[in-house]
Amino acid sequence: MPIRKAPIGVFDSGVGGLTVAAEIRRAMPAEDILYFGDTARVPYGNKSPETVTRYSREIARFLEAQGIRFLVVACNTSSALALDALCAEVSVPVLGMIEPGARAAAETTGTGRVGLIGTRATVQSGAYERAVLALNPSIHVFSQACPLFVPLVEEGWAGDPVAEEVARRYLKPLLERGVDTLILGCTHYPVLNSVLRRVAGPSVKLLSSSQCAAKALEDALAGERLPEGAGPGGRGGLRCYVTDAGTHFREVGERILGEPLAELIPVEEERLVLA
Ligand code: DGL
Repeated sequence: MPIRKAPIGVFDSGVGGLTVAAEIRRAMPAEDILYFGDTARVPYGNKSPETVTRYSREIARFLEAQGIRFLVVACNTSSALALDALCAEVSVPVLGMIEPGARAAAETTGTGRVGLIGTRATVQSGAYERAVLALNPSIHVFSQACPLFVPLVEEGWAGDPVAEEVARRYLKPLLERGVDTLILGCTHYPVLNSVLRRVAGPSVKLLSSSQCAAKALEDALAGERLPEGAGPGGRGGLRCYVTDAGTHFREVGERILGEPLAELIPVEEERLVLA
């Protein structure tokens, strides 16, 4: 009887990282996932680098203590601001969102004009731009912070005309620059894929950072053979830790995942304090 491997740890500031968990479950259904949503302290996207780094380190340490074998930082903001600190801190391999998305963009663009949308903190960090330029210095990256997208997704308004109007306003400057590739550099944004597709038009290729990260995880784990999970169809388990269980995490999360979530495990913030 093959022994099950330790789970993959996946964390986000809230529910958005479930777009990454959903991609991991599609690509690697037998993996067990421990998901952490920092629902008490979301959003990270308008917080300082110091605060985001502290929160991210606390969560990484918590997940490491639960016995994960790999950590996926399923939050673009944390990846942009805290990835180096996390890699130095934890003893398991760490995968962030930026490099996989940047690599896909560098490989996809034909005109060398790439658009990036994300939170204010992700855009201000310049992390995507640095990562794309490291791969190909001749590419131009045009960035736009889209702070209204996260609340629109959490409100369940991804299909509402309001979302389309907001998307038109945010994407206009990027489309005017003639980008042919658009990185969805926030884990909430794949939920807005249809409206972004409509607004950006057929000549712009949309890249979901969540999909790119799941693919990178698959590559990193290639060759590892897992026995079937205990769930229906041999699927692995998905346990969710949250810092505030009183939010509408379950409702939004189940919509993103397309499957029911088991019990949410509350984690008091005091348990997250760094030693
Ligand atoms: N999920 C976060 C990200 O990918 C955005 C939400 C937030 O601001 O915390 O950047």
